[in-house]
Amino acid sequence: MSGLQLLLRQLRREAEGIVSYEFVSAGDAPLPAFTAGAHIDLQLPGGLQRSYSLVNDPGDRHHYVIAVDRAADSRGGSAWMHSMPRPGDRLASSVPINDFPLYEDAPLSIFIAGGIGVTPFMAMAARLNTLGRAWRLHYAVRSRQRAAYVQELSTLDRSGTSVNLYCTSEDMGRPDIVAIVCDAPAGSHLYCCGPNGMLDTFTTACAGLAPQRVHLERFSASQEAATAGGYEVRLARSGKTLGVEAGKTLLDTLLDAGVPIQYACSQGVCGTCSTPVLEGTPDHRDDYLSNEEKAANQAIMVCCSGSLTPRLVLDI
Ligand code: FES
Repeated sequence: MSGLQLLLRQLRREAEGIVSYEFVSAGDAPLPAFTAGAHIDLQLPGGLQRSYSLVNDPGDRHHYVIAVDRAADSRGGSAWMHSMPRPGDRLASSVPINDFPLYEDAPLSIFIAGGIGVTPFMAMAARLNTLGRAWRLHYAVRSRQRAAYVQELSTLDRSGTSVNLYCTSEDMGRPDIVAIVCDAPAGSHLYCCGPNGMLDTFTTACAGLAPQRVHLERFSASQEAATAGGYEVRLARSGKTLGVEAGKTLLDTLLDAGVPIQYACSQGVCGTCSTPVLEGTPDHRDDYLSNEEKAANQAIMVCCSGSLTPRLVLDI
């Protein structure tokens, strides 16, 4: 991970279970610029890395702001973020990376967010305001108490008509994603970030649209990781061969053997652990590669995917 040292300036409770973190540069160098939709990979104790969208206006060059939802099933990342960091702490981070870029020339950008999935759209809305471009946000939360950034969104919503909030526990319904997609004007771009059910509905609803108009970002896996084991992996560069045992992922096996491999989400959504495949057929379980890329079998996300053949050869 090419690195930055960030200094935590402040934490703020944004909603029930959601805390934001404002980081500034820990040294004299200014923070690298970022584009709307970008995230940073924070390095947490125990070798954990977690990806968090940058929430603030990309025009604000002096800080990075992220928000973290305390996941009920946290595997360590959000639980640590909610309990340990204090103002003045330093955290290592990647430079900003953008896998969810904003198409800035669209006449209208339509955002559909579920819960903490609103975070990249905060930066996108701010950027579009700077450009004088129109946007709309459909924002679904379980309850008003769980709705982060409501005040900030009303400030960003200059027309007063751009934000639709849906509290699913308060009889305010859910966004009708099929209707939103059907009603999207020609040339508009559609974006979705939220839980898997929402993303699946969005993907189905957008099936008839030109793919370049459709953008989504997952923050959790849609499939279980492959842990059946029973195959071997040969590392072409070192000549090592490792057996992948039942109950372990390929990433577990590589890390146990001391193979230095970069990873972040551990869920097949970020692409950090992408590894070239030289032989064998991966059992692709990720949400990062396209169907065409999966069919080509030239890369594997080792954090979650396994093998359909008795042997895989990787270019590491
Ligand atoms: S670590 Fe994110 S896809 Fe594997």
